[in-house]
Amino acid sequence: MATKFKRLSDLDLEGRRVLVRQDLNVPLRDGKIASATRIDASLQTIKFAIDAGAKVMIMSHLGRPVEGQRDPRLSLLPVAAYLSKVLGKTVNLDTDYLEKPPCLDNGEVALLENVRFNIGESADDRELSAGYARLCDIYVMDAFGTAHRAQASTHGVGLHAPEACAGLLLSAELDALGQALASPQRPMIAIVGGAKVSTKLTVLESLLSVVDQLVPGGGIANTFIAAQGHSVGKSLYEPKLVEHASKLIEMAKMRDADIPVPVDVVVGQSFSVRSPAQVKRVEDIEDSDLILDIGPETTRVYAEMMQLAGTIVWNGPVGVFEFEQFSGGTRELGNAIASSNAFSIARGGDTLAAIDQFGLGSGISYISTGGGAFLEYLEGKTLPAVAMLESRA
Ligand code: 3PG
Ligand code: MG
Repeated sequence: MATKFKRLSDLDLEGRRVLVRQDLNVPLRDGKIASATRIDASLQTIKFAIDAGAKVMIMSHLGRPVEGQRDPRLSLLPVAAYLSKVLGKTVNLDTDYLEKPPCLDNGEVALLENVRFNIGESADDRELSAGYARLCDIYVMDAFGTAHRAQASTHGVGLHAPEACAGLLLSAELDALGQALASPQRPMIAIVGGAKVSTKLTVLESLLSVVDQLVPGGGIANTFIAAQGHSVGKSLYEPKLVEHASKLIEMAKMRDADIPVPVDVVVGQSFSVRSPAQVKRVEDIEDSDLILDIGPETTRVYAEMMQLAGTIVWNGPVGVFEFEQFSGGTRELGNAIASSNAFSIARGGDTLAAIDQFGLGSGISYISTGGGAFLEYLEGKTLPAVAMLESRA
């Protein structure tokens, strides 16, 4: 996982046309930005380029439009408005940049309309990549969240541009992940929550050769509870993957790793903020029960593990922490992670919401903006955008 590439901070940007690919793919609700986390994390690079006197062009995708169709619901217009506000300067949305390149003064910023409106973007088309490259003197790849996509704006453009380097966010993400994964302080623990084993199967398997403990959370944990021969009542789980979960437990043992499956849980009768909570041993779960959190005994065991850990990757809550009576597991686990001396990395919308809700931010070493890119990195895959930067170093 060597990461040798040029960095934005190594280059002289004064008066240069700098094209920055960011991941400003933010959730929109009724045309408004529902969470600006990704934009906020990207600001450091934009401000750096402005201060260095660059002519700054920012590009990003938003959602998954049909190429060649300008779906107004997936326009970056709200993002341009947000950027204008937080940067305190006008950021115009440029829609015809491929025909008519933006004309900017030093320190000025333009946002280029959704790159996925362009035909050839997702196919990493050569012509389109070269078209992007003609806009700039320096191409800056800063979209960690999209670094696992080999597309024209994340990959091809970097091969054609006069110079290509990593932006500050991408550099920070790769440095933090490198620190956590290249030669991690041990023991190393990964917490992998989420609804389904099926969507995380390859990640779970790959992690077994990296981590010392793999803590399953959410619906994933339920499938592991079932794999130990217990009923999970009405809980979300995947019957078809129970056997696979058993195999993962065996595989873990062979690799000197451990998958600590909950010994007790908190159950409700319905997925509701009003459902009364009851603590049960996993062998006592009844048909009408819905597992909504880990129990106090399991929480204590997990919390002790966090205190002893050298590295923690936190990817998903362990219960329905949005409901007070089912929040104890995630809160205590989060507290244990935050107060541990381990190098901790957290990611994912739900994890971030839990960190906010319990005020844990200052105790987490690094909070990543990556989704799929983060998971692919964890699996040990080469991210195409990073490979491209390395080839241009
Ligand atoms: C994401 O939100 O995961 C990234 O922005 C990548 O988006 P994509 O999965 O549509 O390529
Ligand atoms: Mg995605």
